[in-house]
Amino acid sequence: MRMPTYKITPDETHPNDEFLIIGEAPGRQEDGIGPFLGASGQALFNHFLTHAGVSRNKCHITNTVPVRPPDNVFERLSEYGLSISAFADDLRRKVLSRKWTAVIVVGNKALESVTGLGNIESRRGSLLTDQWTNTQRVFPMIHPARLMRLDKARQRKDEMKKINQFTAAMLLDMQKLRHILKED
Ligand code: URA
Repeated sequence: MRMPTYKITPDETHPNDEFLIIGEAPGRQEDGIGPFLGASGQALFNHFLTHAGVSRNKCHITNTVPVRPPDNVFERLSEYGLSISAFADDLRRKVLSRKWTAVIVVGNKALESVTGLGNIESRRGSLLTDQWTNTQRVFPMIHPARLMRLDKARQRKDEMKKINQFTAAMLLDMQKLRHILKED
């Protein structure tokens, strides 16, 4: 049986980029075009990173996996004969290609791939290092898609509370990042 075909989404780069942003995987609107072009990207750059003084044109933007998993379900990458580990070497090379001002890992998959650590909720807003050389500064943040998923359930009061808590925590993390960068 022939494997279904998939597209590789190219990274977004800028001449003066100094931050490496690593997301999870491209979504429907980004498939084969570029990372973080949709709603998550808008939230990431316009609502969060801007408060840390990190603008899109200072970033090299990539994903843990440059292929959109069927229906965005990572386990279904296997339908293409792929898995996260198939791209691990590429990701390591990007992380170690130069000294980044910071490597910002967005969400659990990116956190795990770069640091070998899990649990983004307890690590968010802290400063870590890469798992291969311990030389790159790695800053984990919660994926804005988490907020958007909650947003859809906004009617429910308890979900509303969670959105507010997450947003406040993420904005606090951006202040921390701004502070860390100012100390350089
Ligand atoms: N788009 C991306 O490119 N990456 C994500 O993690 C989410 C949306």
